[in-house]
Amino acid sequence: MNVRITGTGSALPGKILTNAELERLVDTSDEWITTRTGIKERRIAAEGEYTSTFAAEAGRRALEMAGVKPEEIDLIILSTVTPDFPFPSTACIVQDILGATNATAFDLSAACSGFIFGMSVAEKYLRSGAARKILIIGSEVLSRIVDWQDRNTCVLFGDGAGAVVLEASEGAHSLLSTHTFSNGSYWNLLYQPGSGSRNPATDSHTIDERKLYVTMEGNDVFKHAVRAMEEAAVKALDANGLSPSDISLLIPHQANRRIIDATAKRLGVDSERLFTNLQHYGNTSSASIPIALDEVNRQGLLKPGNKLLMVAFGGGFAYGSALVNW
Ligand code: COA
Repeated sequence: MNVRITGTGSALPGKILTNAELERLVDTSDEWITTRTGIKERRIAAEGEYTSTFAAEAGRRALEMAGVKPEEIDLIILSTVTPDFPFPSTACIVQDILGATNATAFDLSAACSGFIFGMSVAEKYLRSGAARKILIIGSEVLSRIVDWQDRNTCVLFGDGAGAVVLEASEGAHSLLSTHTFSNGSYWNLLYQPGSGSRNPATDSHTIDERKLYVTMEGNDVFKHAVRAMEEAAVKALDANGLSPSDISLLIPHQANRRIIDATAKRLGVDSERLFTNLQHYGNTSSASIPIALDEVNRQGLLKPGNKLLMVAFGGGFAYGSALVNW
């Protein structure tokens, strides 16, 4: 039984926040942000736009490309660190918006690696015969948990969503493997201290001590990210008897241009085989890889038989890879 990507979609807020505009919010500069991260601008959700808004639109576009009706979907897996509500799952809200009445729907928490973890879970459902058509979505409105007074973090993130339809099928085009990893000993290097059971949003200290915002040890995260993405990529190559020269395109999680370049260099993947769009969107966490994949797909950058390697890293730490024979 093969597992095929039959549709991709993405949805982004209309509002663009440039580095020049950030210069007016915090003590930073376009030059600093560009040289340290590669990011030039990011998208920011408007009032009345939520994680479910972009998730549903990205999902609708992916279903349209796949030629799959919402009621044919067996499962919706939505990855996010910025759900509409702590409960119910944003996946259930998206199910309602799309009219995917026959789907089971749940959210998945694996921070920036959530989309790859979602692909991995979906793969198991499909190979076991438990589902035939699955919608996987990564969607984030990070602008609502970013501290707009903290120049260390606020310049990095953006909002948006990406989605794929994964189906059980015969035929050559297929998902070759997924690999997922967790290293919980570093959970406190990148996290949101408040809003959960440790620092409830209902406690005034949580707000007074600014615990509702993303907090990060940037330098440590950087080093771990490069090592972990290399490890996840090598695992995927080894499992399929491939070498870096076999890879047609690498889509890494779009966190920082320097992390991406260092990872590609360690793997021996040259810049022509590396896809980046973080200059436009910043780090959109679990949405970053499916947004990039949708752009690659719609631009026709992959040909049948091409090997596509996707690799992610994020809070947890959680990291992983997915390898596709296009
Ligand atoms: N504008 C200007 N200066 C800034 C700044 C900004 N937006 N953000 C931080 N600085 C300052 C720091 O305060 C520090 O100043 P100091 O030396 O006076 O204390 C200086 O720049 C250097 O900071 P440093 O942390 O050494 O910079 P860096 O080269 O490591 O880059 C990051 C910082 C955050 C860009 C980088 O560490 C990074 O990208 N880490 C990974 C983050 C990430 O991707 N997280 C998500 C993973 S999924």
